[in-house]
Amino acid sequence: MIYDNHNRPISYLRLAVTDRCNLRCFYCMPEEGIKYLPKHQLLTYEEMERIVLVLARLGVQKVRITGGEPFVRAGLMDFLRRLAEIDGLKDISLTTNGVLTAPHVADLVALGVRSVNLSLDTLDRERFRQITRRDELPAVLKTLDALLEAGIQTKINAVVMDGQNTQDLIPLTDLTRTLPVDVRFIEEMPFNGEGSHYPVLHWTHRRIVDEIRTYYPNLQKIPDPQFSTSANYQIPVHQGTIGVIAAFSRTFCGTCNRIRLTAQGTLKTCLYDNGVLDVRALIRSGASDDELTSAFLRAFAHRPANGFEAEQSRDTVTESMSTIGG
Ligand code: GTP
Ligand code: 5AD
Ligand code: SF4
Repeated sequence: MIYDNHNRPISYLRLAVTDRCNLRCFYCMPEEGIKYLPKHQLLTYEEMERIVLVLARLGVQKVRITGGEPFVRAGLMDFLRRLAEIDGLKDISLTTNGVLTAPHVADLVALGVRSVNLSLDTLDRERFRQITRRDELPAVLKTLDALLEAGIQTKINAVVMDGQNTQDLIPLTDLTRTLPVDVRFIEEMPFNGEGSHYPVLHWTHRRIVDEIRTYYPNLQKIPDPQFSTSANYQIPVHQGTIGVIAAFSRTFCGTCNRIRLTAQGTLKTCLYDNGVLDVRALIRSGASDDELTSAFLRAFAHRPANGFEAEQSRDTVTESMSTIGG
């Protein structure tokens, strides 16, 4: 296992397999979409597989596939099957918007995927259409059913947006009454492809918890799994749990075990940094596995202590979450 300069293990890779998406969530990208990368600027599956092999040898045990929307890229399932063969990788998970996912659930189970995170900000069809600018709620709910039916551990991700979906906090919380899901509410971050649209964050993790407590005074804190981004809660007798992710307040940086590879093959050692290594360029200039390994080790030895330190070394954020992968 490799430890960074702040003694945190690096054991988790978030891999964005595409910057493309079939939704247009306003907190992630503008209505017209982002300028998608031409294909040759994306890592190929072979390049990604090689990077994961090198990182697995350095101690990475978990890979979360992100995007954009992973299922928009052709050949995803074959790629996952190859990843599943890699020695040392114990956990392959995905974060998906659920529009195209349902038909793949059985295959995901077959290749050993045990958990999926599903983005779902509202249970109201009209609000879903306003937030994502697409009328796809029925497809996403079908995916939720399919995941639960297949026994996949499912976390629902809901970004909390002032004036948009705060009325959904309680209906989403209520899903945990009968369903074994983890519903996680996320502080909105300034990665919407245009620069933040709020001068201040109105819905902090504290306010989110307070709001749920108003309706459920018996909301109980439960232990957080190691390396969890969410602070976790449960309502007694409910089957599922509630999580609150302080993604903007960044309360969990001290235990951060994650690195990221963006869709164009840039390594980020913090979600808030500007990219620290052009892995695609290294690979395409013919770097050997040893050279890749050394470059990764150098990057891991210079990780910022937290997201606040990371953002010091960059300009205003204009990236979309769709290229970073979240
Ligand atoms: P697991 O712990 O593997 O389930 O992943 P996760 O819940 O962190 O991942 P997911 O892709 O579901 O992301 C949920 C939210 O957490 C998204 O808004 C992510 O952008 C955010 N997030 C994930 N990792 C980090 C991180 O290291 N820092 C910050 N600030 N936010 C993160
Ligand atoms: N702030 C917080 N979370 C975001 N996501 C996308 N954009 C943002 C943002 N600006 C979430 C998505 C998805 C996860 C990977 O990141 O809802 O569930
Ligand atoms: Fe697509 Fe996810 Fe961005 Fe929404 S947040 S537009 S689902 S990549």
